[in-house]
Amino acid sequence: MSHNIRALAARCCYDVVDQGLSLSEALPKAQALADNALDKALLQEMCFGVMRYLPQLEAVCSQLMSKPLIKQLRPLQFLLYIGIYQLKFMRIPDHAAISETVDAARELKGQSLTRLINGVLRNVQRQPALFDFSAAPDAIKYNHPGWLINELQQAYPDNWQAILDANQHKAPLWLRINVSKIHPTDYAAALTRAGIDYSRPLADLPAAIKLAQAQDVTTLPGYSDGWFSVQDAAAQYAAVLLNTEDGQRVLDACCAPGGKSCHILELAPQAELTALDKDPKRLLRVHDNLARLGLTATVIAADAAEPDSWWQGKQFDRILLDVPCSASGVIRRHPDIRWLRKKADIAALAELQQRILKQCWQLLAPGGTLLYATCSVLPQENQQQIARFLQQHSDAQLSPLPAQATQQYGWQLLPGDHDMDGFFYACLNKAATHSEKA
Ligand SMILES: C[S@@+](CC[C@H](N)C(=O)[O-])C[C@H]1O[C@@H](n2cnc3c(N)ncnc32)[C@H](O)[C@@H]1O
Repeated sequence: MSHNIRALAARCCYDVVDQGLSLSEALPKAQALADNALDKALLQEMCFGVMRYLPQLEAVCSQLMSKPLIKQLRPLQFLLYIGIYQLKFMRIPDHAAISETVDAARELKGQSLTRLINGVLRNVQRQPALFDFSAAPDAIKYNHPGWLINELQQAYPDNWQAILDANQHKAPLWLRINVSKIHPTDYAAALTRAGIDYSRPLADLPAAIKLAQAQDVTTLPGYSDGWFSVQDAAAQYAAVLLNTEDGQRVLDACCAPGGKSCHILELAPQAELTALDKDPKRLLRVHDNLARLGLTATVIAADAAEPDSWWQGKQFDRILLDVPCSASGVIRRHPDIRWLRKKADIAALAELQQRILKQCWQLLAPGGTLLYATCSVLPQENQQQIARFLQQHSDAQLSPLPAQATQQYGWQLLPGDHDMDGFFYACLNKAATHSEKA
């Protein structure tokens, strides 16, 4: 049976916003019911769009309806958002957007609401002023939850608006060229031969290639030969900063799905890598990625904060801690994060991060390097963690990061900087002899 794309999109948005599923879980399920690649792409665009503009879509509806639809009619409320999003932001002809949305209402058992939905959408079409939010509260004006706007205003008084703006834009497709298989310049030449437009804008990351337009990566040169991986440039700094040498013992303590583990091995194929993650399901993707790229690691499902349960007693020369975090730096790629994440999550995450950091520090050999990383822009998960850790560990020394790093306790990349995701890095060196403060 063929499904109405707008009905699928409405249900998907309902699953995320009301039921708390992530878009990465809900969208593939919806897309599996779509007939073809075009419909899958349309579905994605609508769901991403509703996540990006939810407060404004709600505000427009509240101007046109006495109250929102509730209980079993909630998916139809999201269908209204899908309809309004199409009219305002997509290049679908208005008449098609409206009639398809009304048809979708029937599929969502909303026969009795087709007149209401038609009426709301026709009003949106006729009244562009409904989208004037210049005097609206910040949460509506900027399409982010108020608590997150407040956090960003405090942390970045000069550029919080630029961060919110970057979060509203589509992220580009970055490739990481597998230097153990092909030189980035040769890969760039292969792209040129294939007529694919790209740039290599980062002098300190020569293996990072940005495509001018996103495309199905399986159609790019060398996909099945493991010539590249898809990875945002900000994340590509991890393995570079870790600076692993062949023969060293390396721990990637929060490794799944394995992007950075694979990069470490591409740069140091003879390194002895232990790739650990708490989530056995996510580790399946680590195995897949290692296999596709022809790399080898010891993969362990365990808790990085409880090394007694898995550590064999031999210290590591390098440790990467890409800790679980708010993901507030990658909202442009995962627009649902702003609705799924709650203010209270931040303190809980910060505690977990500090525990992982403290426990794994003991596993680092004297003279070794630990790289702490998050895809967060919140200081509680970043600079404040490192400041707190350094206060308690006299054997830890912060090593200087690239010249761009201006913060005292690490390097904070903001979303949109050089068209990259928001990321944080702090590189800690362990003194050659161990002495930990009480
Ligand atoms: C930011 S992701 C890691 C991304 C990965 N480094 C990459 O580049 O592909 C964080 C990971 O930490 C894992 N994790 C969360 N708590 C953990 C813990 N206590 N011990 C080990 N892994 C944990 C999650 O399952 C998740 O896969």
